[in-house]
Amino acid sequence: MELLKERILKDGLALNENVLTVDSFLNHQVDVNLMDKIGEEFYNYFKSKKIDKIVTIESSGIAPAYTTALRFNLPLVILKKQQSSILNGNLYETTVHSFTKNKDYTLTCSKDFIKDNENILLIDDFLANGEAVLGALRLFEKSNSNLVGVGIVIEKSFQPGRDKLNNAGLDVYSLAQISKLSKGVIEFK
Ligand code: G4P
Repeated sequence: MELLKERILKDGLALNENVLTVDSFLNHQVDVNLMDKIGEEFYNYFKSKKIDKIVTIESSGIAPAYTTALRFNLPLVILKKQQSSILNGNLYETTVHSFTKNKDYTLTCSKDFIKDNENILLIDDFLANGEAVLGALRLFEKSNSNLVGVGIVIEKSFQPGRDKLNNAGLDVYSLAQISKLSKGVIEFK
């Protein structure tokens, strides 16, 4: 998506070989007009599929997932990162390891909002190591729902996530694919 790539070059900051900061339009302040175009782009790519729900992972996936859900006119479900609650039997939950943050977290979803046989489109802001998407996939498997597509705003193609999702047989569409980062340098695939 050219508009997004131009914006990354203009306002993104490569902190080092691994981390791109996009706080001014995606992760902290949000450019709602850009999010609207991102929703349109995901809609155009995935519209031929039968989709029942748009799902994202809190928190930075919410903005692009919201505009995508609006285009599809479908509900948006937000997977939560929280402590496991053995007292709440109404949750699907799985443990996810974040390599970027070097910690585990519990990803949860109420059984009320993902149901048997539903077709899910998952939208997230970054694809790095792919662990968040694979964690979401485990929740969908527990609920007998189907992950029919994954929309990613910014993919860091030099990290292992893309290969892991390809190996899982997922249909992944990334709007910007970054092949290289280093201090002050951003290159696209
Ligand atoms: P993975 O899911 O692909 O395995 O990624 P990983 O655990 O390594 O990344 C964890 C968090 O770091 C995610 O945010 C992800 O969006 C974010 N992240 C990864 N690489 C970058 C990067 O280069 N730049 C920025 N800005 N973020 C990156 P999170 O913990 O889910 O936080 P939130 O912002 O969604 O609340």
